[in-house]
Amino acid sequence: MNVLVVGGGAREHAICDAVSQSKNVNLYSVMKNLNPGIERMAIDYLSEKETNVDRVVEYAKKNNIDLVLIGPEAPLELGLTDELTKNGISTCAPTRDAARIETDKEWMRNLVKKHKIPGQLRYESFSDVEKAKEFIKELNCEVAIKPVGLTGGKGVRISGDHFNGIVEAVSYVREVIDNKIGGAAKVLIEEKAVGEEFTLQAFSDGSNIVTLPAVQDHKRLLPGDRGPNTGGMGSYSCANGLLPFLSQSDYDKGVSILQQIVDALNKEGCKYIGPIYGQFILTSKGIKIIEINARFGDPENMNVLPLLKTDFIELCNCMLDETLSDKKIQMREKSTVCKYVVPEGYGVKSMIGEKIQVGEEFVKDTGAKLFYASVNKKNDDIFTTSSRSLAVVGIADELSDAEEICEKALTYVKGDHIFIRHDIGTKNLIEKRVNHMNELRGK
Ligand code: GLY
Repeated sequence: MNVLVVGGGAREHAICDAVSQSKNVNLYSVMKNLNPGIERMAIDYLSEKETNVDRVVEYAKKNNIDLVLIGPEAPLELGLTDELTKNGISTCAPTRDAARIETDKEWMRNLVKKHKIPGQLRYESFSDVEKAKEFIKELNCEVAIKPVGLTGGKGVRISGDHFNGIVEAVSYVREVIDNKIGGAAKVLIEEKAVGEEFTLQAFSDGSNIVTLPAVQDHKRLLPGDRGPNTGGMGSYSCANGLLPFLSQSDYDKGVSILQQIVDALNKEGCKYIGPIYGQFILTSKGIKIIEINARFGDPENMNVLPLLKTDFIELCNCMLDETLSDKKIQMREKSTVCKYVVPEGYGVKSMIGEKIQVGEEFVKDTGAKLFYASVNKKNDDIFTTSSRSLAVVGIADELSDAEEICEKALTYVKGDHIFIRHDIGTKNLIEKRVNHMNELRGK
């Protein structure tokens, strides 16, 4: 079976790793950078932007691809799934219409409202700065300001975290509208939700979903959750599938919201097939929806895909055949801690073209998994790009051991200009999160 994975980041390296566990698979890749991990696994690759739909389709046809998996969101917005399907190539990813759940944040909020799905926040969108200002004042400046379209997770600004007061809020609103950040002269203003965020990833066959263990990502660049937003600096998950601040009942409510979203998409005539994930926040008033994404999370898929015991390709086929309800998914019950290595200056001005030395065999000996991200391999050396470089995932029964393994493995990644958020998955930071949630619940 010929399988094409679109994308060259760590999330896609983890997808390729999961695909490679299946028997009789020939792996192909389309990536714009030369990811050394994917290069090694693939029998062939095309160096091309994932958003060049025509070239990806042509490559898939030329190589008699049986199944395509798409990692990032940008090609979904351009209708890559639709074009591949039109050409008779099975693609386990949402269509352009279904992917609007991520690519148009206002559309997502409208859908959730129309179908009376729980987890809603007050919101409105604006193209007029003065009108936006009035709404921000109405919400006492306790708002999240979001471009309506895609920004790689870096466009959201939240009061108290990224700005303070009406002047700074309006200044960002103006920046988004004037510069069409996210592709439109429009801004979404949402009520700020206070709590602890978590990610719930699932497989969807259009009607049924199968959910994976909950994960917590760390969006902020610096230790202690400071600094600018990033694509995600690292994440952790627990062996029981929950999080230290997240109960089974909270988890089940998240699952129910995701299921209702898949049902709503179905009713709207855009059946959702492929991986989907909910970015939720647990607040004192229950679970609220932050975002719904039309793909796996990055870094969050690296916490869960390495634990899959069920054949990943079989799961993809069940999504496509709409037979997920018959499938019992099996996972190893392990805790995981994932930390990204990024170029110095990442999130502000990355140091590009800096060499990174990776002792892959030593990393392997620690038991950790290594996933390359946006690096470029030249000859036998690895160089940084502007984006995240690689991720290391520690896996163990206990979270503290997974964190220790991850840190040990990271000692074999060296570079003069790299940065890591070492506090992710540590006892201190996790206690802080649990205490935060307890305070909010008045415990
Ligand atoms: N973890 C953030 C994202 O994948 O968008």
